[in-house]
Amino acid sequence: MGTGRAVPDRVLTNAELEKMVDTTDEWITERTGIKERRIAAPDESLSDFALPAAERALESAGISGSEVDMVICATVSPDMSFPATSTLIQDRIGATGAAAFDLSAACTGFVYALGIAAQFLETGWARTALVVGGEVLSKITDWTDRNTCVLFGDGAGAVVLRAAEDDKRGVLGVAMHSDGSLGDLIYLPGGGSQHPQSESVLDQSLNFLKMKGNETFKIAVRSLAEVSDEVLSRNRLSHGEVDWFIPHQANRRIIDAVGQRLEIREGRTYVNIERYGNTSAASIPIALDELNRDGKISPGDVVLLSAFGSGLTWGAGLIRW
Ligand code: UT7
Repeated sequence: MGTGRAVPDRVLTNAELEKMVDTTDEWITERTGIKERRIAAPDESLSDFALPAAERALESAGISGSEVDMVICATVSPDMSFPATSTLIQDRIGATGAAAFDLSAACTGFVYALGIAAQFLETGWARTALVVGGEVLSKITDWTDRNTCVLFGDGAGAVVLRAAEDDKRGVLGVAMHSDGSLGDLIYLPGGGSQHPQSESVLDQSLNFLKMKGNETFKIAVRSLAEVSDEVLSRNRLSHGEVDWFIPHQANRRIIDAVGQRLEIREGRTYVNIERYGNTSAASIPIALDELNRDGKISPGDVVLLSAFGSGLTWGAGLIRW
């Protein structure tokens, strides 16, 4: 029914990163496609972006927050461990009594949340769902580690969903997978019950996310292509029938490789990584909102979403707009 997004005002360019760590604009651009990213101010947290993104989605849907009966916020960088950031959103938009929970599936979080919301609408167990994907990864990034600090950005995107009158439009299907044996490829060791915050956690930099980028890269391309195929074939749609492919924005080279494998039509793979970097759970809903507000998606268009991230988790969603 509607989409919205909100990102921090502060733009951090590759040129600025050159002064912070041993890197170059050339390396970052060639290896990732990223030119700049948005970074939250010290006093800003996830809800500062998730809430305005949600409000804009409600406005574009033309409904009030009181009509929402389910709020899901996909994130791994919530305001606090608990209560869930989704309950802050629920309260501020006036969704009185709505179910509200956060969903932890890292970069795949928005696809997972979309699948769950769609199921609740289909069964009639919920009437109107607000699905937010948002991150403030800058707060768990080691700004001295060039392997990770050049990659990520902050922001949030949101969508409002309601059961369609007919079954031709809406979320046609979602496929969701995981492989926990590969959990050490991307993880945040500190701050949980295994390594609660302590001086030793800080001394060992366990409060910052770790990633084995190169190993992740190879699995990402294969998984994104396979799960996209799965959701397409389940709905008896061919690659050529995809009007927009919106992959998670982790790396321009991953996006291009998956787009080629899937034989997505020329110019139909949406890319905005150069402006935002990898915003994890926020990347797909931010992209969706840009396409929607720019009037590039038409009613009836087939939109394929696919994502991959820590867990490992991966998934794809198919929407008839
Ligand atoms: O969103 C969740 C899922 N995440 C992903 O899908 C991320 C997937 N991985 C990637 O996007 C890429 O693997 C990276 C962009 C993270 C890294 O690119 P790469 O081409 O795989 O580089 P690499 O890790 O193999 O490193 C190549 C070289 C290394 O130097 P040596 O050992 O060959 O001398 C790194 O130390 O590049 C070096 N390097 C850098 N150099 C300049 C790593 N980071 C930087 C940097 N600036 N920022």
